[in-house]
Amino acid sequence: MRGQMMQAIQVRQYGGPEQLRLESVSRPVPQAGGVLVRVHAAGVLPMEWKLRQGFFKTMRPSVFPYIPGSAIAGIVEAVGPGVTAFQPGQAVFGRTNNGAYAEYTTAAVETLALKPEQLSFAEAATISGGATTAWSALFENAELQSGQRVLIHGAAGGVGLFATQFANWKGAQVIATASTSNSEFVRSLGAEQVIDYTTTPFEEVVRDVDVVLDTIGGEVLQRSMQVVKRGGILVSLLEKPSPQAAEQYGIRAMSNAPTFPFPSTSLLQTIARLMADGQVKTTIMQTFSLQDASLAHALSETGHGRGRIILQVKP
Ligand SMILES: NC(=O)c1ccc[n+]([C@@H]2O[C@H](COP(=O)([O-])OP(=O)(O)OC[C@H]3O[C@@H](n4cnc5c(N)ncnc54)[C@H](OP(=O)(O)O)[C@@H]3O)[C@@H](O)[C@H]2O)c1
Repeated sequence: MRGQMMQAIQVRQYGGPEQLRLESVSRPVPQAGGVLVRVHAAGVLPMEWKLRQGFFKTMRPSVFPYIPGSAIAGIVEAVGPGVTAFQPGQAVFGRTNNGAYAEYTTAAVETLALKPEQLSFAEAATISGGATTAWSALFENAELQSGQRVLIHGAAGGVGLFATQFANWKGAQVIATASTSNSEFVRSLGAEQVIDYTTTPFEEVVRDVDVVLDTIGGEVLQRSMQVVKRGGILVSLLEKPSPQAAEQYGIRAMSNAPTFPFPSTSLLQTIARLMADGQVKTTIMQTFSLQDASLAHALSETGHGRGRIILQVKP
């Protein structure tokens, strides 16, 4: 017997954005500890086009076909056996490990939270993989404190815009990098000093920061080592920094390692409360329909822009 069907984006092989195809697939069934969510909005994270291109195929090969995406906001449609944390009809947001670019997905209750009314589904879908990553990097890994100075690279991006506001909220002094067109935007998020990376090498104007948050990697990561004060810390979202270079500069350097479950319900609630109170704002770069997921990926692949790209799954 055929179960209920849904529309979802499927990837059947590594390749370009054209590999994202809208297909009719079986609707998943929630298992113990999980819920079925009718997805209203899904965040488009850079990780998703990298996975699709096969960047991680030797380390972490994909199992095809798969439904991309992890950041969701939607309505609980049904709950799995034994689930009491959520009920059908509740608006939730958070992370799924079972694909977000779909009309329905299942998610573990420990990586979901109730969506505040003040946030739209699209806004709530910017939190997982953006705000949650910024929080874990700054506060769990770098242990950023009030009064410290932090350099945030890529401050206009889906992670950086939250990192800039969280650091400012914590009472740290924020120095941020962004392109010319995003400089004023990043200043409006609370950055005290904005360095236009298209005109000024940041290492010429910044030194002795307590923390660097690297959201770019490569030579930006390497050049960042020299601006951290001795005993300071560099956290990269992209790669494992060289321990030899870190030792040479007398700093700690690490790749971001969140604590599990990630993001936890309590972390999602903390962030949602700050947003509902108006202390932290999100920004949506552009919204696409589910069937235009390939256009959303093509935009994400440019590596430039302001805020998070969203798939509005339920119009
Ligand atoms: N390891 C993890 O847990 C984890 C989690 C989340 C994200 N990530 C990774 O972290 C990176 C950032 O994620 P995201 O979601 O914030 O990406 P995003 O939304 O695409 O934003 C990237 C930002 O970087 C800026 N940028 C590009 N080149 C720059 C440079 N040379 N210097 C300073 N800023 C520059 C762009 O701004 P302009 O338009 O101003 O150039 C853009 O706003 C991605 O590579 C992603 O895969 C890792």
